[in-house]
Amino acid sequence: MKVGIPKETHPGEQRVAASPEAVKKLIGMGFDVMVEARAGALADFPDETYAAVGAHIVDTETVWQDADLVLKVRAPAKHPAHGWHEADKLKEGAMLISFIWPAQNKDTLERLRARKASVLATDCVPRISRAQSMDALSSMANIAGYRAVIEAAGLYGSFFTQQITAAGKLPPAKVLIIGAGVAGLAAVAAARGLGAVVRAFDTRAAVREQVQSLGAEFLEVKLTESGEGQGGYAKEMSPEFIKAEMELFAAQAKEVNIIITTALIPGKPAPRLITREHVELMKPGSVVVDMAAEQGGNCEVTNPGEIHVHQGVKVVGYTDLPGRLATTASQLYGNNLLNLLGLMSPKAGVLTPNWDDEVLRGALVTRGGEITWPPPQKPAAPAPAPAAAAPKPAAAPAPTPAAAPAKSGHGGHGAGAASSPSKSSPVVAGVGALGLAALAYFMVTARGAVNPEAREFVQHLTVFVMACFVGWQVIWNVSPALHTPLMSVTNAISGIIVLGGMLHLEGGITAPAVIVGAAAILLATINIGGGFLVTQRMLRMFRK
Ligand code: NAI
Repeated sequence: MKVGIPKETHPGEQRVAASPEAVKKLIGMGFDVMVEARAGALADFPDETYAAVGAHIVDTETVWQDADLVLKVRAPAKHPAHGWHEADKLKEGAMLISFIWPAQNKDTLERLRARKASVLATDCVPRISRAQSMDALSSMANIAGYRAVIEAAGLYGSFFTQQITAAGKLPPAKVLIIGAGVAGLAAVAAARGLGAVVRAFDTRAAVREQVQSLGAEFLEVKLTESGEGQGGYAKEMSPEFIKAEMELFAAQAKEVNIIITTALIPGKPAPRLITREHVELMKPGSVVVDMAAEQGGNCEVTNPGEIHVHQGVKVVGYTDLPGRLATTASQLYGNNLLNLLGLMSPKAGVLTPNWDDEVLRGALVTRGGEITWPPPQKPAAPAPAPAAAAPKPAAAPAPTPAAAPAKSGHGGHGAGAASSPSKSSPVVAGVGALGLAALAYFMVTARGAVNPEAREFVQHLTVFVMACFVGWQVIWNVSPALHTPLMSVTNAISGIIVLGGMLHLEGGITAPAVIVGAAAILLATINIGGGFLVTQRMLRMFRK
């Protein structure tokens, strides 16, 4: 199969669909790769870097007409230099992977259908755990969130971090981030990294811990209303909630120096949250970055694509934030595409896609002369079973730390469960140690059963049985996500077990009791050591 990578034609677009590294991997998969001349120039990938990995450098017409698979960033559009529509140039029956935005681009969709093309829209890849590595929307939003902070820092007339200099003390910048989705959380992390005091607000309470774990303050309104929509996305809030939220922003506008807005509800125009009056309440020199500018804007005075100054406040409406970090954006986008192709079993340069695959079907917008968007709705997931009927969490696969991104709840985009398989062994050891300690205790006290005080024996037996039962219930029903706090508890219990075991060893009692006591010390020590190891591993995840 011939793969074509055209130069992007959207005004100001600096990204390219594949870096030379990605092209090398495509060639390794057996594809014949053509790259349009200067396609990667603005992303710092000159033509020579593509030629060096084995790509053919071709002209505009060739890249469109000869390719069996076109990889692109922006949706096909009218070519500014040639006048023809890129979609019309696609080879009949060819495949295209790019952003499409089918709801907004009906004409392009119709043209692609007419070419009998199989088109995968990267903006339609479902946000499910399995498709995380193909989720270009998230990888671009992450870059955009970071870049929004950099743009704000460039326009703001002071430091982000607090400074104490010989010439005077400067307070840190105060940054408010509205919407803590992918872009919002990236902005929180970037602003904190620059040393600002950061506050964030979101209608979904699920993101509170994520905001706080990044060192920012999570703001709340008095009104209680859940912002959780289907699949973990946001839902539209009631007018009362929006009013309460806007009152909070009015109070914040007087205090903060920078506001970054990222609020979005899928399929809806962006909620209008920052009014003209809010902007006027801000101090001159303050900055607003409205990331939702393309969807109508979260701020009333935003001019999409521009910086607009309103009463001394700079309002940034850039709609090309990922492209302003073109090299990295192209690399990550290329990786997203490679992962998507990996799902189509590439072998010796041929793709054999299973169009019924949930990810491919979700992204497929036209095929064989038909428009296949929107994909058929999946039946709603059944309500979660009551806790008692839930399967044993011990059997659930635990995500690896690397696969647990900051964002939770977005269609399964990582539950953020801080759990790993290595943790279960100390837990099991804890249970074993607990049981053994109880057994040792029982054996020692059981000696008393030979004398007439059988009542005491029964009492001890009752305590033993209950300890086993309660221990089992407490530890076995804990979800893997809570194994870390559990570890602290089991470490404390293990400490007691070690002490008990040591008392048995010096007590000079029966040989079996000494053996059991020694075994309890051993297992409890493994549990304590394992606990520390896992805690270290967890802490390393959060260290820079
Ligand atoms: P997302 O869906 O992950 O996050 C949006 C967040 O807004 C959600 O957490 C949601 O709960 C929150 N939200 C919804 N209504 C709210 C309200 N009334 N008040 C407070 N929070 C509310 O979206 P993502 O991927 O983070 O993108 C954020 C925005 O950035 C979108 O508008 C997206 O189109 C835009 N974007 C802009 C770029 C640019 O170049 N300007 C580039 C990439 C993304």
